[in-house]
Amino acid sequence: MKKAKVIIDKDFTIAEIDEKVFSSFVEPLGRCIYGGIYEPGHESADEDGFRQDVMEYIKPLNLTLNRFPGGNFTSTYRWEDGIGPKEERPRRVEVAWQCIETNEFGLDEFAKWSDKNGSDVMMTVNLATRGVLEAMDCVEYCNFEGGTHWSEMRKKNGFEKPLNYKYWCLSNEIDGIWQVGQKPGREYGLLAKEAAKGMKLIDSEIKTVLAGSSSPGQDTFPAFDVEALEESYDFIDYLSVHHYIGNMENDSANYLAKPMVTDRYLDNVAAAIAFVKAKKRSEHEVYISFDEFNTWHSIAREERFEKKWRVAPPLLEDTYTAEDALALGGMLLSVLRHADSVKIACVSELVNCISHIRTRNQGGCWVLPPYYAFLHYTQYGRGTALLTKVNSDVYDSKDYKDVPYLDAQAVVDAQDNITVFAINRSLEEQLEMSLELRGFEGYSVKKHIVLTADDPKATNTEDTPDAVKPAENGNARCENGCVKAVLDKMSWNVICLSK
Ligand code: AHR
Repeated sequence: MKKAKVIIDKDFTIAEIDEKVFSSFVEPLGRCIYGGIYEPGHESADEDGFRQDVMEYIKPLNLTLNRFPGGNFTSTYRWEDGIGPKEERPRRVEVAWQCIETNEFGLDEFAKWSDKNGSDVMMTVNLATRGVLEAMDCVEYCNFEGGTHWSEMRKKNGFEKPLNYKYWCLSNEIDGIWQVGQKPGREYGLLAKEAAKGMKLIDSEIKTVLAGSSSPGQDTFPAFDVEALEESYDFIDYLSVHHYIGNMENDSANYLAKPMVTDRYLDNVAAAIAFVKAKKRSEHEVYISFDEFNTWHSIAREERFEKKWRVAPPLLEDTYTAEDALALGGMLLSVLRHADSVKIACVSELVNCISHIRTRNQGGCWVLPPYYAFLHYTQYGRGTALLTKVNSDVYDSKDYKDVPYLDAQAVVDAQDNITVFAINRSLEEQLEMSLELRGFEGYSVKKHIVLTADDPKATNTEDTPDAVKPAENGNARCENGCVKAVLDKMSWNVICLSK
């Protein structure tokens, strides 16, 4: 059996966890929207065409923000295509995903859907192939009280009150060669600064998100981020970071170590921000918006080029399995661990496409195993992140050395309830965890939720939707200020403690 010791101390906190790290991302990509959140004519659709069977899985997530509409989609998008009467909206060639965009669902529909689902919208404007003025127009449409061209248009379209969107992404992954309108860091930084300036002159309450590097593997990381930040620092509030990990080589031990790359990436981005702040002698704070992250394996990245110009085809629908729950879980622990620098985090994406909520057109809706890791994170991850010292047995994998079998992160909420998230990365052995509670007295274990499977590739389907699901059957117990538990091999654990 593997072994690990963990220490948490009431006085050693990282930071309060921002509500906005419980967010997601919705892009008109594949069947995320069409056949996902929106399918008029589906038996569960409401009067606006929003699928309620999908909503039933989204509501318990209690999402703070949904980032919209992209993503790569944004780089040739005209936001005006998605407002007003649907029959007047243009069909467009959508080059990022090689599809036809009908624009039946746009900004107006997303505003309604978000309202119904109780979350707020983080808008992305197109600075790749459009400019400052169009971005300002979008702010005017969404947030200006009335009496002007765009604000009156919004009212005509059924939104009397301003939508008051606070968070605005200044384009997406503009460092990437795959982006129409790719730009070098400095050029982009200058443009983003002017856009942020103009947008904030319309609504001084908004916060702007600068697009940073699209992955730690980009040759231009971190120079792109530093250069863009140097040009725009005082006008922006967040730096966007994206990261996807996958198991293309089908090496599970190596795959489960990959959230360590996320940890390092977030550390490095925080350091890049600190460097620019120090260089500028600025008092202004810029935080990380980790607005796209997830596991993503598919070679299916290329499937869009095989059959082009379809409307809402199934794209990027990986079969996510039990091991993906642990890999995503590791990324989620990384977000909590970086509570001092990561203030927005959007799992990518919400339905079907790179997602754990799966639907069939005109059919059912079910969830894949990683959904539960995300659900637990949104349910039990709210509060203050505690410094969680882990001393664990380790292993070497193909690409990583000294990988701790145990990954753990603790959170304490406002009522002093403690949640310990723990992942046993061992594919073969149980792990004996002993967790010392310093400064926390009189606690007992209220719940120990376990998500595991005999086969790392086990998953759920429409016919067997409950094949992999969590159970409250863990064995954690408190003894003399210590939590002892034997964690199943390859398991995701949520241990809830209270007085
Ligand atoms: O989420 C899918 C795509 O991944 C997004 O459109 C893009 O931003 C990233 O490359």
